[in-house]
Amino acid sequence: MTAGAVQRLAIRGDLLDVVDDPGFGAVDTPAVRFDADAWLLVEDGRIAGRTRADPGDGWPRVDHRGRLVTPGFVDTHVHMPQLDVIASYGTELLDWLNTYTFPAEQRYADPAVSRAGAERFVAALLAHGTTAAVVFPTVHKASADALFETAQARGMRMIAGKVLMDRHAPAGLTDDVAGAERDCLDGIARWHGRGRLAYALTVRFAATSTREQLAMAGRLLAAHPGVYLQTHVAESRAEVAWIAELFPEARSYLDVYHRHGLLGPRTVLAHGIWLDDADRALLAATGAQVAHCPTSNLFLGSGLLRWTALEAAGAAVTLASDVGGGTSLSMLRTLAAAYQIQALQGVRLTAWKALYAATRGAARALRLDDEIGSLEPGRMADLAVWDWAVGPVATHRDALARTLHERVFAWITLGDERNLVATYVGGRLQHARAD
Ligand code: GUN
Ligand code: ZN
Repeated sequence: MTAGAVQRLAIRGDLLDVVDDPGFGAVDTPAVRFDADAWLLVEDGRIAGRTRADPGDGWPRVDHRGRLVTPGFVDTHVHMPQLDVIASYGTELLDWLNTYTFPAEQRYADPAVSRAGAERFVAALLAHGTTAAVVFPTVHKASADALFETAQARGMRMIAGKVLMDRHAPAGLTDDVAGAERDCLDGIARWHGRGRLAYALTVRFAATSTREQLAMAGRLLAAHPGVYLQTHVAESRAEVAWIAELFPEARSYLDVYHRHGLLGPRTVLAHGIWLDDADRALLAATGAQVAHCPTSNLFLGSGLLRWTALEAAGAAVTLASDVGGGTSLSMLRTLAAAYQIQALQGVRLTAWKALYAATRGAARALRLDDEIGSLEPGRMADLAVWDWAVGPVATHRDALARTLHERVFAWITLGDERNLVATYVGGRLQHARAD
């Protein structure tokens, strides 16, 4: 191909995306767009269109006939260093942090450990069909730099920032307000808006930041439009009780963040299980989103998210793996666990609602839906190609499915990263299954 020529690719498969919020309950919805056996056209890294007809000469092709093509998943909350502690036995949140997570994260002070960890992590995201993520590295600036560098090399949409924590953690894992502010300013200058990267002020949770550090994060958030803020909120009951002791002046856990100016349209709050009506109204009013982490909530025994109450209040809910509290980077497994958490509360989560929350809904909540989350022309060609079914049980079930929803629901419930055939980022192949 000559320099300056348009880079084209036509990908054949069953094209599926969810273009609007389908809400709870509706299995038949115009929000779903499905083109069986069509060509998705990619030009210069962006989706250019789709056609049932042969795209004609001038289109290099990849034939994934009989396979599913979706937008790459968006994982709105995941911890880079916690691949080291995924699947650790026997603890609830606060013990889990002290027993497994804090010791593991200390190793990332070493830039070589951070670099290797970032490469392993980004490769793993892509190998699970995730093309965009909101990520916690560690408190160490080197870990954030390594993550940004690695994502940049892959062309990925990545939102991250060095973790802020200046108390209630081991010495090797704490910063201080002035040093943290310097590191954040440097990170914003170096990474925010560079390629597809964005900086997130990353308050671990209210327990590990002093009021002074929370206020510093609030100042930086106000001073840097477009910068994100990510943290955890109301995950476990013991944690909520601890926050109430640490911040007696606050009305609620969420109010701690509100008082420090941390809630806004680019705020991502992991968990949000133990909220009340006033908190949910505050989320809706500020535009902050809850990143729901179902496998983590089940694994650590944290509780069941009241998704419908958040929906009724008008608050956005997205889906996240929360590895290593979560047990898989697979967003399919995450969606399947989300279904189960709602089922325990008598709520039926459709495949469409689940898929929306992990693609276009997440893109919208992150204010990125002109870039990611759908197969709309003009969006970046961040794509995942899947086998509908792997293995005799899933293949048998797939063959018996009578409706599209039945088929997609079975894919979600029985599928995982073994179903993934290929991942494209900006139209470039970034992962291919070896088979
Ligand atoms: N709360 C504070 N830190 C963490 C973490 O690393 N994982 C989870 N699940 N919750 C947290
Ligand atoms: Zn987390």
